[in-house]
Amino acid sequence: MQNVKLIIAEKIAGILNHAELSAETLSSFIEKPNDSSLGDLALPCFKLAKTLRSAPPKIASELKEKIGELPFVTKTEAVGGYLNFFIDSGYYGALLQSIADDPDYGRSDIGKGKTVCLDFSSPNIAKRFHLGHLGTTVIGNSLRNIYNFCGYRTVAINHLGDWGTQFGKLIVAYKRWSSKEKVEERGIDELMDIYVRFNEAEKNDKSLTEEAREAFAQLENGNREYMEIWQYFKDISLREYEKTYQLLGITFDSYNGESFYTDKMPAVVEELHEKGLLKIDNGASIVSLEEYGMPPVLILKSDGSTLYPTRDIAAAIWRKKEYDFYKCIYVTSAGQSLHFAQWFKVVELMGYDWASGLVHVPYGTMSIGGEKIASRTGNVVLLDDLLAEAIAKCRKIVTEKNADLKDKESVARAVGVGAVVFNALANSRIKDTNFVWEDALSFEGNTGPYVQYTYARSASVLRKADGNDANAGEYTALNTDETELIKKLSEFPAVVLRAHDEYEPSHISRYAIALCALFNQFYHNCPIIKSEGAVKAFRLKLTKAVHNVLGNCLDLLGMQRTEEI
Ligand code: ARG
Repeated sequence: MQNVKLIIAEKIAGILNHAELSAETLSSFIEKPNDSSLGDLALPCFKLAKTLRSAPPKIASELKEKIGELPFVTKTEAVGGYLNFFIDSGYYGALLQSIADDPDYGRSDIGKGKTVCLDFSSPNIAKRFHLGHLGTTVIGNSLRNIYNFCGYRTVAINHLGDWGTQFGKLIVAYKRWSSKEKVEERGIDELMDIYVRFNEAEKNDKSLTEEAREAFAQLENGNREYMEIWQYFKDISLREYEKTYQLLGITFDSYNGESFYTDKMPAVVEELHEKGLLKIDNGASIVSLEEYGMPPVLILKSDGSTLYPTRDIAAAIWRKKEYDFYKCIYVTSAGQSLHFAQWFKVVELMGYDWASGLVHVPYGTMSIGGEKIASRTGNVVLLDDLLAEAIAKCRKIVTEKNADLKDKESVARAVGVGAVVFNALANSRIKDTNFVWEDALSFEGNTGPYVQYTYARSASVLRKADGNDANAGEYTALNTDETELIKKLSEFPAVVLRAHDEYEPSHISRYAIALCALFNQFYHNCPIIKSEGAVKAFRLKLTKAVHNVLGNCLDLLGMQRTEEI
């Protein structure tokens, strides 16, 4: 159904007949007045004043004279520099009908035929998954869902940190102090402990450093025994990460980590050399970025070993060939912003025009506030511990709230995990956040449980109403609770696009909270099941539309839909 904004904008564009003031432009100017007694929509004419070389009040009153009748518009008024419109409630009824009838409401096909790679989560193996990786994991996953919803083909890549000199150290430490039995028993904890022990021992024994360097060099040369040990470390790590991903409901299309690019690096170094970009500095090979106001990028150490940026450059070139991406999006903490700016520049200097499709999406730090979380490793908060504790707390809350609930365990899991995920996506990603238990797990306020609970409420209404087939179209006397809710529903497609444009899942989480607040208000003020005939049918249709849109919000954020709480 045609948007009333656009109907108004097209009419005005016709009246003005000015090249700079297209219907689309005018439509983007039209806004909702803060005071709804002034109208449902308003055109702030000061936005046209410069182009039309006229005073806003004059523009408003002239347009009012010329505008005439418009479908769904009951009254037009010029007030000061604003042209205000009052919309017939029949419009909202028709709008709701079109939303409720469209199973793909909110989806778009702007990404049709385009592939987007998303590089996220990407922990460093042989280390535990800690809170620092929560942001990249859930923001990356949500962006992937948003891009899918917009019609792109997405490739989710876990660029594991599985290469580098630390593996030389780990191999030496493992051979000295550990064994397969110990690692089987203690998993990553054992690997972390021997790594710490190595770093301590190395301080007093420089020969260890040399041994580790040699071990890594041999690993890079494909030493069979070392490759097997390294592969074992990787398997152990992945086995543990998989559990966390499963809990979060996250999957990847590729686990090609840094090690995958080892044999692809010489060609890249050669290419950098041929293109005259490499400089020798104290025996190391660098690309100078002085001209661009950035420190140089280290490509090869003086001993010839490659580095993190080298592997990123090789990976980008490989991915472009393999996936022909339209964009390749990297989600990491803001601390890595310089690293990405540097190597993106290098790819550009190599002459690849697709460098403009490389996007870094940074996020702020997350700390834990309020009650301390029981952690096995002192200061570092492990994601598994955080999730387990959230689930345990939710189990208690859910049991208290609804003792008869059938599947308490899976609800506790959905809501506990959802609370952690939502908390990480609730604010602009770049902001530093603080995780406070009492806030994150509350069933009221800006929280995951609030959204999942409201979703379950809409589901429960629909279950109770089973089999109602009255005609909703006969109801036209909409009240404010109903129109406000429909207006909010009508914003959904634009919100998805904004989240897509700005790589910002918080547009979805904020929208979900606002939609929940309006739905709960409607639910408290307007009887649904207890009303009759067309009123009942209309309110059920409204509930169904909320259920659909809210369900899509949960999907986009990477949270579970909870049909019953
Ligand atoms: N492994 C890195 C870390 O834990 C993140 C990798 C991000 N992706 C990339 N292509 N550099 O900090």
